[in-house]
Amino acid sequence: MRILSGIQPSGKLHIGNYFGMMKPALELQEQGEAFLFIADYHALTTVHDASALRQQVRDVALDFLAAGLDPEKTAFYRQSDVPEVQELSWLLSIITPMGLLERCHSYKDKLAKGFAASHGLFAYPVLMSADILIVQSNLVPVGRDQKQHLEVARDLAIKFNNQFEEVFTIPEPSIRDSVAVVPGVDGQKMSKSYDNTLEIFGDPKALKKRVMKIVTDSKELEDPKDPDTCNVFALYKLFASDEELADLAGRYRAGNFGYGTAKKELLAKINEHFAPMREKRAELENNLDYVEEVLSRGAEKARAEAQKTLSAARRAVGL
Ligand code: ADP
Ligand code: NA
Repeated sequence: MRILSGIQPSGKLHIGNYFGMMKPALELQEQGEAFLFIADYHALTTVHDASALRQQVRDVALDFLAAGLDPEKTAFYRQSDVPEVQELSWLLSIITPMGLLERCHSYKDKLAKGFAASHGLFAYPVLMSADILIVQSNLVPVGRDQKQHLEVARDLAIKFNNQFEEVFTIPEPSIRDSVAVVPGVDGQKMSKSYDNTLEIFGDPKALKKRVMKIVTDSKELEDPKDPDTCNVFALYKLFASDEELADLAGRYRAGNFGYGTAKKELLAKINEHFAPMREKRAELENNLDYVEEVLSRGAEKARAEAQKTLSAARRAVGL
């Protein structure tokens, strides 16, 4: 089984990204033949600053390798290192109904957020279809927000196969519903957009400050407290064993226990959990040649598949 995922190079990795996206993506490398690409062509629809883009692509490569991506198990590559995807995107474009793209809500959402209505942004789902179809993926794990785009990919594959020749595997979505939303320091969903994140590879002092500022209710030290409505406890849950959780919940309920103590224990958990990854990342930062080598090996593997698919698609349409 071939599994494809794409990641947006979108800034500093936070705990929400880690549990919501990175950890599940890394688990896939145990389940089949995994392909994971850094979506730099896609990022260009919104990032128009060359050095910022390069930096973000480098960061996401370092983040994934530090977090345990195994280049022997996963073909890890930059989307733009497989330029065949652009030609396939055109071949799909010629059979893509305008109405199909006009219905895509992520385009409308982007416009509502103030992005300019560009052709690139509009055609994004066609390029995404090409990403998926070019490596003949069977399974594409996506969040709810990407479900519609996956349906576009399926529609286009079916239409192309019918109209020309059987070229494409029809991909199945695997919707990640079980991943809980990680709360930020203010209790809303953790997100860069809300400036409420806990960064994994950021400055340790800044992280400590942030953890100490996590919003709690204003109960007095001696009051019994409710773990189930507490942001600190919700974050602690991501790291702790069942026994540790039961222990902390007991101390909340007993009273004479302050949120400051809970925050310190949370901070210790975060630091303990990510220490090996931080160490690995620092090593990789001093070994960028290795990172490049991983990405070019990944691209070589993806490209070999891409070239096969593209040749078949070109033949099918008469090129
Ligand atoms: P942000 O909201 O910080 O801009 P992105 O939109 O770039 O994060 O999200 C990147 C990935 O991380 C997506 O797959 C998204 O579902 C996941 N993710 C982001 N924030 C959270 C969160 N608070 N809880 C769970 N998953 C999250
Ligand atoms: Na977001």
